[in-house]
Amino acid sequence: MIYIISQLFSHNIDDTTKYLINQIKEKDIVTVVHSLNVGYYMKEFCKTLGFDGKICYTIGLLHDVGKLYIDDDILKKKTQLTSHDFEKMKRHIQYSAEILREYGYNDDIINAVLYHHERWDGSGYLQGLKGDQIPTMSRILAIVDSFDALTSLRLYRNSVSHYEALKIIEKDINKYDENYFILFKDFIDDLYKD
Ligand SMILES: [Fe+2]
Ligand SMILES: [Fe+2]
Repeated sequence: MIYIISQLFSHNIDDTTKYLINQIKEKDIVTVVHSLNVGYYMKEFCKTLGFDGKICYTIGLLHDVGKLYIDDDILKKKTQLTSHDFEKMKRHIQYSAEILREYGYNDDIINAVLYHHERWDGSGYLQGLKGDQIPTMSRILAIVDSFDALTSLRLYRNSVSHYEALKIIEKDINKYDENYFILFKDFIDDLYKD
């Protein structure tokens, strides 16, 4: 399924975004497939919520662009990251924001990306924001990002089904915006029915 979705990569995007996606593809195939999937889910899900599909698509496609600056021995590690690796990996958020700023993306896009690892209960990073201190688009992106991370194959673990991924997120619902999660669940149920 991951490859099927990534093949839906629309060419209806600007040249800068295309260029950055190609840079991610050169760096790491797992990250580019994840980025394309998250872009696709963001575009389609956000449209059902009445947001601008193109902006949401860009946010999803480029949310992890900062991984371009993460060393390969961490990014492509075949075992789970150590806490030291994880601290370095967290920096991808600032790198993403820096790259997006450098290429002239607007603040809505930069902020959505900058806070996508914050969690509703304050347990996320980098700032430990809580609840509606976290921008709406970052809260949506957090759900979509976690969902694709769980359903995609990673080097150090197997993937789970869409149904199981939703269950796993639901168990941890205090970390996510529950209202958007309920809507996302309906969206995924619709997308994968039959
Ligand atoms: Fe990320
Ligand atoms: Fe991600």
